Amino acid sequence: MDSEYRPRRTCMSVPASSERFLAKARELAADEVMLDLEDSVAPAAKDTARDLAVGALKAGGWDGRLVAVRINGASTPWAYKDVIAVVEGAPGAVDSLVLPKVTSLSAVSWLDVLLGQAEQVAGLPPGAIGIEAQIEDAAGLAAVEAIAAASPRLVSLVFGPADFMASIGMRSLTVGGQPAGYDFDAHHYPLMRMLVAARANGLQAIDGPYARIQDTEGLRKASASVAALGYDGKWVLHPAQVPVVNEAFTPAAEEYWRALAILAAYDRATSLDRRGAVMLGDEMIDEASRKMALMLAAKGAAAGLPGPPRPPGPPELPRPPESAA
Ligand code: GLV
Ligand code: MG
Repeated sequence: MDSEYRPRRTCMSVPASSERFLAKARELAADEVMLDLEDSVAPAAKDTARDLAVGALKAGGWDGRLVAVRINGASTPWAYKDVIAVVEGAPGAVDSLVLPKVTSLSAVSWLDVLLGQAEQVAGLPPGAIGIEAQIEDAAGLAAVEAIAAASPRLVSLVFGPADFMASIGMRSLTVGGQPAGYDFDAHHYPLMRMLVAARANGLQAIDGPYARIQDTEGLRKASASVAALGYDGKWVLHPAQVPVVNEAFTPAAEEYWRALAILAAYDRATSLDRRGAVMLGDEMIDEASRKMALMLAAKGAAAGLPGPPRPPGPPELPRPPESAA
C-alpha cells in the first residue's frame, strides 16, 4: 500500500436521475461519491440522468471527496455515450469511472482505449481517469485475475452482490445479506478471491451495498466482517449508512498507534541496532510485521486518526529476541 492511499471507506451510490439526491450527496461524509447511470436509473431516464450527472459534475462542490460515475455496461447502447459525455462535458471532474458487469478483460480494455481518446479531446493527461471494475456474476468472478490485470487505469475491484447473488442462484432476496439455511458466510468465496486478485495487482477492494437500510446492526456486522478481511470500503445507498460504514473501515486508534509503534521500533532495530527481528512488548516483530503495520498505518493516517498520546513513562523500546524470556 503506497503513501498516496486515497480512502474509499464509503462509496455513496447516487441515482443521477434525481436532482434532489445529487444535491444531498454534496453534504455527505462519504469518501467517494458515485453518480450512477446504470441500474438505479430506468432505461427511459438514461439520457436525462446523463445530462444531470454532467451538470452536477460541472457545478462542482465535491471538495475533498473522490468523484466517480458508474456508466452503463460495455454491452449496452448507452455506454460509449456515457464516457464521452462525462469526460468531454466535465473535463477533470471525475477521478474514476465504475464499469459494471465486467465479465472479461476485453470490457476493461475497451474502456481503457476509449478513455485514452476522450482524455486527449478533453485536454487531460493520459491515464488521468481511473477504472473501477465491478465483478458481479459467475463469469466475472471466473475471470477476475485477468480482469484485475487488464489496465494500468484500474484502481479497484468492486463486488456487486445483487447481480452476483442472482447470477449464481443464491436463495436470498436481500442484497448483501446472507441466505437463510446456510450457516456460514455465503459471500466469503467471491470476496476473498476478488481481494487476492485486487492485491496481486495493487488495487483496492470494495464491497457492494447492503440494501436493508433500516438494519444498522446488519450493516455494521457485514461491514466489520469485510473490513477485517482486508477490504478498503463498501458501497452505501443512504445517508444513514455513511457513519456506520466509515467507522467499520477506520482502524481503532489503538490499532493505529500499535502500527506506528511497530514501524518506529522496526526502523530503529534495523537501522541503529542492525537486527531484523526484535521484541516489542510481548510480540516479536520483523520485516513481515512492518508490512502489516504499513497497511494499517496508511489506513489510519488517511482516515485522519490522531497520533498516539505521549506515554507517561519512558518509551517502550524494542529488545533483542533473546532477552525476551
Ligand atoms: C451492485 O451493482 C450489485 O449488483 O450489487
Ligand atoms: Mg449490479
